[in-house]
Amino acid sequence: MRHFLTLKDFTKKEILEIVNLALKIKNKKKQKKYLKNQTLGMIFEKSSTRTRVSFEAGMFQLGGHALFLSSDNTQLGRGEPIKDTARVLSRMLDIIMIRTFSQERLEEFAQYSTIPVINGLTDGYHPIQLIADYMTMIEHKKDKNPVVAYVGDGNNMAHSWLMLASKLGFELRVASPVGYECDGHMIDNAMKQAKISGAKITFFHDPKEAVKDADVITTDTWISMGQEEGKAKKIKDFKGFIVDSEMMKLAKKDAIFLHCLPAYRGYEVSEEILEKFEKVIFDEAENRLHGQKGIMVWLNKQKK
Ligand code: CP
Ligand code: NVA
Repeated sequence: MRHFLTLKDFTKKEILEIVNLALKIKNKKKQKKYLKNQTLGMIFEKSSTRTRVSFEAGMFQLGGHALFLSSDNTQLGRGEPIKDTARVLSRMLDIIMIRTFSQERLEEFAQYSTIPVINGLTDGYHPIQLIADYMTMIEHKKDKNPVVAYVGDGNNMAHSWLMLASKLGFELRVASPVGYECDGHMIDNAMKQAKISGAKITFFHDPKEAVKDADVITTDTWISMGQEEGKAKKIKDFKGFIVDSEMMKLAKKDAIFLHCLPAYRGYEVSEEILEKFEKVIFDEAENRLHGQKGIMVWLNKQKK
């Protein structure tokens, strides 16, 4: 049995297996009921639109059923230990997704769970998003090894890009303001992995340098969920980090722009760029549905 907690736990071969499975399921006219009669539990300790809807719709399309479990309306919100919740749910469900705060809380849940656990986003990582992002990159860029520039906060999305690039071996440039860089431990991990895969990973404080001649530009909100404190200062510190037409001009002519959404227009990205890359961005959002089906079917196969 396997969990899906971070891409760090997966080999290049396994990541590509999941992506290819997701693309295969996506392109099938008739959906096979791969997860017939199975139940997915979805614990949300933070808000969500895409993750909740894509898991719930995806599970239904695969012949299963999904349960939305908000921490406010379960005993988790009243302090029932995560390890007890994991053991109870393991007796009733087939697969579980949890969106929570620390990666440690997710890991504790997984440690006590006897069914596969999927990371639906933590402060540290957002790996399910990266499966969708990589699918979108393949669909729009054909070249499987494009140069990717991540411009913005050294947050869960940045860490997940680090993991994906270092596993698959493509070039990634990360530009963040001073004081908002990626976690040092995560960087060390990615650099070690990059030595094996041949990935080129570089860090910048000047976003213009990072995006120069890149094939894919991506960003994320400057204010992640649960990190609203100090918002005004952060916005000031991110001056110059907006992905707008000036910034995009520095990338390759046929470069694409990705955003995991929700997007905050006028902050990390301009309205103009969001609308210019509307097709790519909403393909990316749709790929959440297909990507997560791939993840769930892959995890289910590992059980047998
Ligand atoms: N990108 C993403 O995870 O969106 P939600 O927060 O709406 O789930
Ligand atoms: N970094 C963002 C991603 C939202 C999908 C957050 O954690 O809020």
